[in-house]
Amino acid sequence: MQDIETLKRQNMNLSDKIYIFDTTLRDGEQTPGVALTVDEKIQIATKLNNLGVDKIEVGFPASSHGEIKSAQKIKSLGLKSTLVGLARSLDCDVDAILDADLDYVHTFIGTSPLHRDYKLKMSKSEIIENASKTVEYAKDHGLTVEFSAEDATRTERGFLLDVYSEVISAGADFLDVPDTVGVLTPILTRELITDIVNNFKIPVSVHFHNDFGLATANTLTAIECGASQAHVTVNGLGERTGNCSLEELVMTLKASYGIDLGLDTTRLYSLSTLVGRLTGVKMPVNKPIVGANAFAHESGIHVHGILNNSSTYEPISPEMVGHTRKIVLGKHTGANALKSKLKEYHIDLNEDQFYKVFNEIKSLGDSGKAVTDDDLIAIAITELGSARETPIIMKGLSISMGASVSPTATVKLEIDGVEKETAHTGVGPIDAALNAVRELVQDTMDIELEEYNLEAITGGTDALAEVFVISSDSDGNKSTGRSTNQDIVMASILAVLDSMNKLLLIKRA
Ligand code: KIV
Ligand code: ZN
Repeated sequence: MQDIETLKRQNMNLSDKIYIFDTTLRDGEQTPGVALTVDEKIQIATKLNNLGVDKIEVGFPASSHGEIKSAQKIKSLGLKSTLVGLARSLDCDVDAILDADLDYVHTFIGTSPLHRDYKLKMSKSEIIENASKTVEYAKDHGLTVEFSAEDATRTERGFLLDVYSEVISAGADFLDVPDTVGVLTPILTRELITDIVNNFKIPVSVHFHNDFGLATANTLTAIECGASQAHVTVNGLGERTGNCSLEELVMTLKASYGIDLGLDTTRLYSLSTLVGRLTGVKMPVNKPIVGANAFAHESGIHVHGILNNSSTYEPISPEMVGHTRKIVLGKHTGANALKSKLKEYHIDLNEDQFYKVFNEIKSLGDSGKAVTDDDLIAIAITELGSARETPIIMKGLSISMGASVSPTATVKLEIDGVEKETAHTGVGPIDAALNAVRELVQDTMDIELEEYNLEAITGGTDALAEVFVISSDSDGNKSTGRSTNQDIVMASILAVLDSMNKLLLIKRA
């Protein structure tokens, strides 16, 4: 890794301070299909603040009363990050920023011929007049002003520089360069940002979209050329294909440029997970930094390297971003990976048993099946000869519910060959059935349900429910359980029993 001084010597025009301007709550919320409640915005803003981003664009206050309310609520949290609101080049939009109790406005107007002629129907001089007047109005009201020339990258260069020069005269504090439809490439970015940075004395910011997958590369190039602020979003959310991704930018700066922005990067993965859950936009497994496979290894050669020294096949450690390393089993698995997995589950096999399990995992992989940890446990336990009988078998389940009484579940289980039955109430039918199961197994094991996921895997009222659970026992062993059934209560109980049986089998093995 190189330090900032080395990079400066290599003809990079790095700014001494690089601001991270997060727009997950504004451009990120413009992701098709995404809408956040006030409470969800508060959760995300709090995490962004704890991560340490300099600025958080909390919304577009003029667009709705709810946006003003959510900005006010976030303001009332007293976060350290500076809060920003978006405004068109209109006095009424600036008034909404003031109503929202914000001190920093990000004001914009389209400058390209396409925006002037087809959207705004304004001449060049009208664009300059509107932009400058709004900047002046915002400054007169005591706001910090960042000005964006929307679609800057498709705007005639001379006109773009004129607009920037006029808004600076009107008092703008930051110039932002939006690549609104993501048409830049690194070499074009270098030329454009160098020109803007050389022409003006105030800080230059960039807001790059990802239409061709280049947003992060272009943003890094802009920073190399003297841009001192980057607009980013968590998970790269944003209009269409999104914006420059916060986690990709911050970690590339840290790992490849040696630039530590002072953010607590160990919070990145949990922030990404929260945003994924609240927006419903799940990350692909191969998403850099935060995807499920970002630190997952399957091939024998890689796992061997990783087990000796993780840097062999990881540019950064998962701990740096709060993620975890995963050794995945499959047709490429090597003996070292299998040994480490068996150790993780406290399963001891002799050499003969080990190679039988190894070959079975390889042939499962060869048949195109993903080999889960559960598959491994089942195969290993069968090999150990301990799985002759399933310890807990479901024998019966019935639920009774009334309009004003708590649901009651009657559950019958066969535990190690002995039938037992009990009835229990709960806040809902699943809770009642789980309470009954807990009561029935209490002499056999202690069980904690750590995770419960329910998904309808077909449509209609006869949809199949798939339940996936993670349970743990009092020794800290964990196991997954899965079941599919047309009845959600039955699917839930069978998934829990599946995980309990695995835990018992591990223990007894
Ligand atoms: O992409 C864009 O041009 C924007 C502006 C509002 C800055 O998001
Ligand atoms: Zn944008």
